[in-house]
Amino acid sequence: MVNLPEKAVPRGELFDRMRERKQQDADWRGGKTWSLIYPAGEEVDEILREANGLYLFENALNPMRFPSLRQMEREVVEMTAGLLHAPEGAGGCMTSGGTESILLAVKTARERARAERGVTKPELLAPVTAHPAFAKAAAYFGLEHKQIPIGADLRADVAAARNLITDQTAFMMGSAPNYPHGVVDPIPELAALAAEHGIAFHVDSCLGGFLLPFLERLGHPVPPFDFRIPGVSTLSADVHKYGYCTKGASVLLHRSRDSMQIHQAFIYQDWPGGIYGSAAMAGARPAAPIAAAWAVLNGLGWEGYLQLAQRILDATKRLQEGIRSIEPLHVIGEPVMGVFCFGAEGADIMAIGDVMDDRGWHLDRQHGPDALHLMVSPEHDRIVDPFLADLRDAVAQHGTSRGVEARYSE
Ligand SMILES: Cc1ncc(COP(=O)(O)O)c(C=O)c1O
Repeated sequence: MVNLPEKAVPRGELFDRMRERKQQDADWRGGKTWSLIYPAGEEVDEILREANGLYLFENALNPMRFPSLRQMEREVVEMTAGLLHAPEGAGGCMTSGGTESILLAVKTARERARAERGVTKPELLAPVTAHPAFAKAAAYFGLEHKQIPIGADLRADVAAARNLITDQTAFMMGSAPNYPHGVVDPIPELAALAAEHGIAFHVDSCLGGFLLPFLERLGHPVPPFDFRIPGVSTLSADVHKYGYCTKGASVLLHRSRDSMQIHQAFIYQDWPGGIYGSAAMAGARPAAPIAAAWAVLNGLGWEGYLQLAQRILDATKRLQEGIRSIEPLHVIGEPVMGVFCFGAEGADIMAIGDVMDDRGWHLDRQHGPDALHLMVSPEHDRIVDPFLADLRDAVAQHGTSRGVEARYSE
């Protein structure tokens, strides 16, 4: 066990030790990771460094003390609402990430179902491909978690969803897109089904919220997924994914600001310490993610995001064409953006992943079907050729998989 040192470690030594430890970490700057970080280039990194530095010490708990933070948070929410076509009367807040946004959406839906429909044993319906944050929300907030199966196109099966609805269903959702296969669930059909039964419907656009609007503007086919669909109640979009912000920044939007204020916000007045209120789950909140999100959104604008989206489209096309040209690899399903996975007919794809690991490429593994997973960021356009060359070798050389090793994906 490590104890607090009696004497201060000299500053130089301190940072030498950290740098040395850091050498074990993934080489994301070299484009060798495919999740967790979304590299967009040195110019974006500089904006993020400066914005984080400027707000490193402030606390976003009390918006009265730091009005600049309140203003930036409001503007980040408004810019996101604009991108995703939230209507007049919509509300929203920033959270620490996709998981917190999802937890809050589920908690809000549970309160709403209790208040409006007298639901006492709430149930949550989510496709099997939904992010584990929905299972977590169900576990935290006491909802029964029911999984909607997917069809041959890997999207939620709407007829199966209909059969799972009961008078206790409090929450339904679809992903735009989901993490495993990068496909968008049939959001209009699922949202209409939810609306028919008075059930809150959430779109998990944590991955797509800051990429799909730009792909749509570029003329790329994007299935309907945002507030233009009438039954959508809430939507999560992560600035710290394809918004390219440093970690700790997501936006949760509500079609109805009133519903957010009534069912999400928390106010406590019986404390000797004074009135305590918070919109999201955290108490003290770091200011830097709010500042960084505001800075990157303004620092890129439509122009910057469109350029980065085009780089993703180009790199994804080259990667998918390259993968398809290597026997027996195939891209799974019809992914909508740079998030996709690929398998190998009759070969051990996990063993291919092991050879890629040995060459420093960090590919997440997944099952059902077995596959290796990629999330393409703008900076990946530099490494398409070396990646494909290593992949070709890995397919030629692979033996059998090293087998079980716990691997965490996003
Ligand atoms: C589709 C989707 N939703 C939600 C999340 C959760 O986001 P976070 O890791 O920021 O909590 C992820 C993470 O990758 C995701 O891919």
